[in-house]
Formats: sequence, C-alpha cells, structure tokens
Amino acid sequence: MTLYLTQDEVKQVLDMKSTLEAVEGGFREMGDDKIEMPPRVYLHFDKGVLIAMPAYMPGLGVAGTKIVTVHPGNKKEYGLPAVIARIILNSPDNGVPLAIMDGTYITALRTGAAGATGIKYLSREDSKVAGVCGAGVQGRSQVMGLMEVRPGIKKVKVYDIIPEAKKAFAEEMKKLFPKVEFVPVGSAREAAEESDIVITCTPSPEAFMEGAWLKKGCHVSAIGADTGAKRELMTSVIEKADKLVVDFIPQAFVTGDFRVPKEEGVITEDDIYAQLGTIVAGKKKGREKPDEITVFKATGLAIQDVGTASKVLELAEKKGVGKTLAS
Ligand SMILES: NC(=O)c1ccc[n+]([C@@H]2O[C@H](COP(=O)([O-])OP(=O)(O)OC[C@H]3O[C@@H](n4cnc5c(N)ncnc54)[C@H](O)[C@@H]3O)[C@@H](O)[C@H]2O)c1
Repeated sequence: MTLYLTQDEVKQVLDMKSTLEAVEGGFREMGDDKIEMPPRVYLHFDKGVLIAMPAYMPGLGVAGTKIVTVHPGNKKEYGLPAVIARIILNSPDNGVPLAIMDGTYITALRTGAAGATGIKYLSREDSKVAGVCGAGVQGRSQVMGLMEVRPGIKKVKVYDIIPEAKKAFAEEMKKLFPKVEFVPVGSAREAAEESDIVITCTPSPEAFMEGAWLKKGCHVSAIGADTGAKRELMTSVIEKADKLVVDFIPQAFVTGDFRVPKEEGVITEDDIYAQLGTIVAGKKKGREKPDEITVFKATGLAIQDVGTASKVLELAEKKGVGKTLAS
C-alpha cells in the first residue's frame, strides 16, 4: 500500500516547526555518519534538467528519492511551474513504496529549515535585525525558518530587484509576523548594513553581496546560488568570514559562491571550518565569539527532502490525509 499526497495535502500537515525538526535531525545523522547519500544525478534536456536525489536514513527507517525537474520556460510555453518535484519513500526492509508525494512545497520549506538550522548554530542569539535579498519563494521560507529559531528578531529589511516583489513580501510577512517590522530597502547594501543576519536567496548570476557591508558578529545565510552559473557572494565575503560552514563540501564548491574564490586562489576545501552536520552533531562548535563573522552556504541535500517527507508521511497517517494506492 502506497500513500499518495498532493501538494494541498502536504500543505495541510506540514509546518515550519515540523520541517525544522526533520531537517535538523537529518543534519545530526549526517554529522554522525549515519546516512547514505550519493551525489545527485542530472539529465540534461533542451529545455531543462531532471535531477534525482536519493538518500537512505537508517535512523528514520526510510529511504527515498526526490525527482525534480527545472524548466525555466515552462510558465510561458505551457502555463506550468518551472520547478516540479515528487518524492518517493521506500521501505529499506522490503523496498515497498511507502508514499509518493508532491516535493515542491517540501523543497521550499526544507530549504527555509536548512537556512534556519545554520542560523540556530551560527548566528548570535541576541540577533535583532535581519536583511533579506530576494523576495520570492525562498525569501518567505527563509523568514519563516528564521522566526522559529530567532523569535527575538524585531526588524527585517528586504531588497529585491523588482520593487513590487519586495513591497508584496513586506505586506504578506507582516500578516504572518505582526510584531516584526518589515522594511523594503533600495539596495543589497542597505539590506546588509547593520544586520545581525543576512540572507541571500536570489537566482542571480552575478555576485552582489560585499564583505565590507557586513558588521562584526554578523551571520550570512547564502541560499540562492545552488549551481555553477549562480553567484551571490563576492569573494570579499569569503575573505572577511571567520568561519565558513557548508551543507556538503563537494556541492558547495560547484556553486559560484565558492567555485569562483577557489579559481581565484583565495580558498580551498581546507578553509571550510565544518559541514553543518558536524556542528549539529556536537563534534565541532558553532559560534564561539560574539564578534566572529560566519557564513553558511546551503546547496540542498536529499536528506532534507527524505527526512521532511518521512515527517509528512507520519503526520498524514496520523491525520488520515491522502489517498491509498493499491500496489
Ligand atoms: N540551496 C537550496 O537548497 C535551494 C533550494 C531551493 C531554491 N534555491 C535557489 O534559491 C534561489 C531563489 O529561489 P526562489 O524559489 O525563491 O525563486 P523566486 O523566483 O521565487 O524568487 C527569487 C527572487 O529574487 C529576486 N532577485 C533576482 N536577482 C536579484 C538580485 N540580484 N538582488 C535581489 N533580488 C533578486 C527576483 O526578482 C525574485 O523576486 C534560486 O536560485 C533557487 O534555485 C536553493
């Protein structure tokens, strides 16, 4: 028997708190070397790509694969979303597909939870001001994650190259978090300066975040550049950071954020302080000094998808949500 869950059904059962538990748990298992996660596999089409992301998480008793396609022209040509994702969970005991579910909403939330896990372990606990660059799906998820782990945030500055996007973002987020001030600002510099936490979540091909804008003690959450063709952080951010933390070293060095500084001879893999899982598992310290500048580079991991999907399955079974498919 396989449970099938649509995006609406996933949304019915999953919130940021549960996603954070799943994602932080996944990082811990990774830090304890308890997971199996081979590199992603890519298929390249004329109009897009297909990415297969498998992971086995023995601690949860589950294995799974996310299959995500990215077709940038979809909306214009077919009226379809650019990103379409499904997650299949299998029983490690007998291989039975336990669930097939929408993976698009899970991708949005688990990425917010990944950024938030970095913020929990690396940012100052007394952080009050955050700056967000990119007022899209990830801008929203990152703020939802941020507010779970740093409820003391009083002000969020938001910058987007599209003025209406940052305005709509500020109005929407204010409804979700009425006690927080959401301020659209005119540049990435304004978003970064005086912020305790800086979040970049854009698909920008050009680096735009400068090291000189970061105040002492600031934490940078670099989410948007997940391929070699995208870059948000200038090399000066990498140079200014006291601690560079990534989700997965081989993937981090593919993205523009780390590939370019490596090509420039500024960093190598040895300059990475830790993978986040190592810190979550307690094998290395997160933030140690109030003044240090920390960077977390997220590229996205299959364990985030499989761990969150496993949580969705648990919640859906409890609440009787979804449709059972005969095998
Ligand atoms: N690291 C991960 O695990 C992960 C997971 C999901 C998505 N992503 C990546 O995050 C990025 C954002 O995804 P999304 O779903 O939020 O996209 P989106 O299209 O919903 O939003 C992106 C926003 O960024 C704005 N933007 C573009 N360039 C900018 C710039 N230079 N400065 C400020 N704003 C700018 C756009 O106007 C848009 O409003 C993408 O590159 C996506 O691939 C990463």
